[in-house]
Amino acid sequence: MLSLLALGLFLASAQNSVSAQAVPQTIQLQSRVAPVSATLRRRALNPVTVPLADFFLGTDLQWFGNKVTFSNSPAHFSGNMSVGTPPQTVSVVFDTGSSTLEFASTLCGAPCDNQVKFNSAKSSTFVDGGTTSSITFSTGVGVDPVVGANYRLTLRSGTDTVAIGNLKAPATSLFLITNQTAKFGIDPFSGIQGMSARAQGIFAALISQGLPSLFSLFLTPLSVGNAEMTVGGIDTTKFTGPLTFASLASTSAAWTLSSPQLTVNGVTNSVLQARRSIIFDSGTSNILFPTATANAMYALISSDITPFAAEPGAYGIACNKISTLPAVIDITFTSQSGSPFNLTIPSSELNVGPFASNPAICQTLINAFDGLSLVGGSLLKHYYSVWDVGNQRLGFAAI
Ligand SMILES: *[C@@H]1O[C@H](CO)[C@@H](O)[C@H](O)[C@H]1NC(C)=O
Ligand SMILES: *[C@@H]1O[C@H](CO)[C@@H](O)[C@H](O)[C@H]1NC(C)=O
Ligand SMILES: *[C@@H]1O[C@H](CO)[C@@H](O)[C@H](O)[C@H]1NC(C)=O
Repeated sequence: MLSLLALGLFLASAQNSVSAQAVPQTIQLQSRVAPVSATLRRRALNPVTVPLADFFLGTDLQWFGNKVTFSNSPAHFSGNMSVGTPPQTVSVVFDTGSSTLEFASTLCGAPCDNQVKFNSAKSSTFVDGGTTSSITFSTGVGVDPVVGANYRLTLRSGTDTVAIGNLKAPATSLFLITNQTAKFGIDPFSGIQGMSARAQGIFAALISQGLPSLFSLFLTPLSVGNAEMTVGGIDTTKFTGPLTFASLASTSAAWTLSSPQLTVNGVTNSVLQARRSIIFDSGTSNILFPTATANAMYALISSDITPFAAEPGAYGIACNKISTLPAVIDITFTSQSGSPFNLTIPSSELNVGPFASNPAICQTLINAFDGLSLVGGSLLKHYYSVWDVGNQRLGFAAI
């Protein structure tokens, strides 16, 4: 899910870089040997691998942590992400399109009844932040994706201990969901853990405790299973070829790479050859491009694909025509060593599923969204991906 907050941070950082001139800072260095205790203080934490469950509704939508397993040697153990004292289990979708941690709470009534709710009154370590706010997600999941205010959470700020197994981060900033729009009611998880390119919350806390500042996603289709996230490392058993890294295109919270070209079924044109920044969002299943780009891509797939009026930004085609359409999308990027490489979305992703309001029409993968280019689960599930916060780069390996 791409939160408007993530975009807001992007704009804020762009403004900062304009208004705040980068003034070189001179730091006085003193020749001094660090005391042993200081070097030991930053004790390394080992990577943690978390199995992910697939939120599947006709198509793979999102992957979320349900049961968390640790390979933190020497002990092997499992547990869930938990919040509070004593700990309450919270399952979350790991979302690279947003930055914060928010989950359903007992302050939310009927709108959250389908979710497991966190009860802050039962946690001795919870501190109410007293601030209410709301967060709107600009992209949703799956069929009938919504451009508008259909994904909106009302939040109350607070801090509490957040833990993944025995890795604990005290006083972690979080938000209790106090109300949510109906679209969230179908989620099989309680909330969202933002995993933006600027580490925040528990991930930031674990990094400060010595965890390497990267995480990796292995987002498989439901039929394949065994999806997982490794926090603090790379699970090299999940891919065979090399990892290709590309530097992030901006210093915003969004994971963004610059692309010089899109190709559909091996063909490109002047619209598709424009350079664009593309956001990588593990919490969004469809892909988004500005209207002119979406139209140019569909023109290379089938003239029978047309906008679906009931859902602005969505397109569709008669379901009985879709399965045979070739729709291979190659998105070109440049590696850190300067070589072009493609990330490819196969034709099998074109069909998102029938529209609820007209089941004879199937939604197609590309949504029009002016001002934004974004790819998500439908691309990520064909690669092993490494999200390197410390080096501000993204890595991909074929699986
Ligand atoms: C994690 O929580 C889920 C319910 O949310 C439960 O079904 C599962 O057994 C828990 N796993 C562990 C290892 O405690
Ligand atoms: C919760 O949000 C809905 C809109 O999704 C609104 O109609 C309702 O009044 C809100 N409830 C509260 C208690 O604020
Ligand atoms: C990327 O894909 C396009 C279209 O299939 C192809 O022409 C190009 O050679 C590919 N680039 C690389 C580096 O593989």
